[in-house]
Amino acid sequence: MNTLSGKHILLGVTGGIAAYKSAELVRQLRRQGAEVRVVMTAAATGFVTPLTFQALSGQPVHTELLDADAESAMGHIELARWADVLLVAPATADFIARMVAGRADDLLSAVYLACDSRVAIAPAMNRVMWDNAATRDNIATLTGRGVQILGPDEGLQACGESGPGRMLEPGQLVDAVAELFNTGVLAGQHVLVTAGPTREALDPVRYISNRSSGRMGFAIAAAAAEAGAQVTLVSGPVNLPTPAGVQRLDVVSAADMHAAVMNQIAATSLFISVAAVADYRPATPSAQKIKKQAGEQSLQLVANPDILADVAALPNAPFTVGFAAETEQVIDHAREKLQAKHINMIAANVVGDQQGFDREDNALHVLWPGGEQALARASKTRLARQLLDLINRQFNSIAREGKVIPLHGKDSA
Ligand code: CTP
Repeated sequence: MNTLSGKHILLGVTGGIAAYKSAELVRQLRRQGAEVRVVMTAAATGFVTPLTFQALSGQPVHTELLDADAESAMGHIELARWADVLLVAPATADFIARMVAGRADDLLSAVYLACDSRVAIAPAMNRVMWDNAATRDNIATLTGRGVQILGPDEGLQACGESGPGRMLEPGQLVDAVAELFNTGVLAGQHVLVTAGPTREALDPVRYISNRSSGRMGFAIAAAAAEAGAQVTLVSGPVNLPTPAGVQRLDVVSAADMHAAVMNQIAATSLFISVAAVADYRPATPSAQKIKKQAGEQSLQLVANPDILADVAALPNAPFTVGFAAETEQVIDHAREKLQAKHINMIAANVVGDQQGFDREDNALHVLWPGGEQALARASKTRLARQLLDLINRQFNSIAREGKVIPLHGKDSA
């Protein structure tokens, strides 16, 4: 199983002899399905050439903060936004001190300062430097700020001494990075996600559908599994691999999706309805291919069941989250849906005109009774994690007020 499938790992390489191991690290991260981009400090380029990392990552290597060409392609802010994890390996004593000080006078330190995703460092230095009180204090400060410290290992060092300060081996770093995605906040929960479009048959070869790619729903299912939940994904016809650790049920029409959801709902503590369900279906699909006829034709449609509203209306409804795909008055329309469907939360996004559907990134405006929060444009993977954090917080806050059944109360056998 590719433990890092689709993850964006931004690897910062600083100037230590262990930089040669980072070349192998890039290979192993990619073998686990990660996309890797590399930022090198000036000192690092004295140990390994940018060309090595470019060849191994398949991406241009970033080294300059003040390079107009590089900044216009992917500057420090874009790199920071792109990253699901910033991993600095090796992290020298000097670079660690620079992180503590909040410096931003080279590309990697500026990326770190601009990065709101997970950050991990793999220290590598002489054992006496590692034991120095200054380094100890710096590590404690970074730990307090939420930076994950991976290693260092003990053993023979490049300087000929033996002790703590060796960078972890690439395989150990890959495992540690995969572990960073397992937050465990939804451990013990049963999460049901719908994703993708539905197809409503006109005849055996034609259907009505929409442009949903399923990416947002799949990203949410993946993020929920990473957060420790047991996840079932009911998917319309899409062209996407099943996320690791997710049980997938494929359906075609809105009626199929409705049935699959209702079949699973008793065991569900959190329902996230991301699918772009067709609101209508042809009233009488033809058993045979419809033949061309002269003159205008009209199609009679009947309403499909509203899966989200039906789930929210159940006597023992799980915590329900909907999506609102809108082309105009996004927030107003989403608020109306939140109220009309009696759901706990809604995530609104703009679709059409190159936005929303069939893209790698998205931006959301999340609303719940009494609150709202905008989630800025980011990869769907990152947004999915941010949305799950919001869902988790909102769920816990209303559970404290006794307005919903606690999630653990719905655990199935
Ligand atoms: N939804 C659903 N079943 C349907 C239609 C929609 O479960 N038959 C869910 C979607 O998964 C989404 C939310 O309802 O979470 C909003 O869907 P949307 O199509 O944007 O809203 P509609 O209520 O269909 O309103 P409209 O199409 O008029 O915008």
